[in-house]
Amino acid sequence: MARIELKNVRKNWVGATAVDRIDLSIEDGAFIAVLGPSGCGKTTTLLMLAGIYNPTTGDIAFDGARVNDVEARDRNVGIVFQSYALYPSMTVLENIMFPLRFKKVERAEAERRAREIAGLVRIDALLERRPSQLSGGQQQRVALARALVKRPHLLLLDEPLSNLDASLRLSMRTEIRRIQRELGVTTILVTHDQIEATTMADRIVVMNAGRVEQEGTAKDLYEQPKTLFVASFIGSPPINLFDGHAEDGAIKVHEATVPLNGSARGNVVLGLRPESIRVDSTGTPARIIAVEPMGREVLYSADCSLGRVHFLEAGAEARHREGDNVALAFSPADALLFDKSDGQRLDAGIAA
Ligand SMILES: Nc1ncnc2c1ncn2[C@@H]1O[C@H](COP(=O)(O)OP(=O)(O)OP(=O)(O)O)[C@@H](O)[C@H]1O
Ligand SMILES: [Mg+2]
Repeated sequence: MARIELKNVRKNWVGATAVDRIDLSIEDGAFIAVLGPSGCGKTTTLLMLAGIYNPTTGDIAFDGARVNDVEARDRNVGIVFQSYALYPSMTVLENIMFPLRFKKVERAEAERRAREIAGLVRIDALLERRPSQLSGGQQQRVALARALVKRPHLLLLDEPLSNLDASLRLSMRTEIRRIQRELGVTTILVTHDQIEATTMADRIVVMNAGRVEQEGTAKDLYEQPKTLFVASFIGSPPINLFDGHAEDGAIKVHEATVPLNGSARGNVVLGLRPESIRVDSTGTPARIIAVEPMGREVLYSADCSLGRVHFLEAGAEARHREGDNVALAFSPADALLFDKSDGQRLDAGIAA
């Protein structure tokens, strides 16, 4: 297993920068999720760790030793991609044993290790089948076994669950987490799915346009986003964002004036999570314009002096109807303020 470090890593393509000066340090045995929009450099980062791409500049180290010049096959990295391309003509057992061929592992030993890992991913009963005779989830497990049979120092998972249906994804999440814990292998999971990142990983790295925007626990990212990008990317339904102008100790937002705590001037963005807004008779008048039951909670849209807001109430049953007049309030401590020009979170907040 290994501690992984990226120092000032950049990857340029002709005319484009896919990864732009990333610094990242991953503890031995940790499970990290990488979240970010399409094209932000997630796969490129994994392929540099695997040794398939060379960084244009910067260093990659495993356990403190620089690996930039170590070939992919000598890095001992296991990878599972979204399309896990098993060899169709080979049995499951042969598929799993395949990576050991190049490692000069004796056949009997290779088979013993393949059977052991098959037990771990719970496909021992399928070893004589061909990939075409397996379900999507079973194929996914074979791909995972094939990545793990080499006893990799680092396991890279690039959206491995995106081809599976919802219930299979749910069970594979738990399975992958269990296997990762049992083996203690340092793991990086790339995903588009926040829930997947939150439930599986110890820490989440949010990438945007080739850079690391922020890393932390799901709670850190949700409650203390450092940038407007992280605030708007994390959370579903998304945070309410209001353009405002700060001066003389207050922020003017739409028709509202909100007292400022701390100093800020100029264009700002006020962020309020849908669950931070509540119906409260002391609040500002609002009119409900849409009601969306979402299972265990109800999402409302309403118009008030701040503009259009979305808020959540717990419970399956809607307590307000379209056209109802209500009053809405939020706790100042829940408000997030950002500088509009650079998207950075401001120290200033909303005064009570
Ligand atoms: N071989 C390549 N040649 C040129 N540009 C590339 C190459 N591979 C990736 N890119 C560009 O680098 C950027 C990052 O791509 P990457 O595949 O890392 O994104 P990603 O975050 O994995 O996206 P997705 O979520 O869609 O898989 C993109 O703009 C992409 O077009
Ligand atoms: Mg990708």
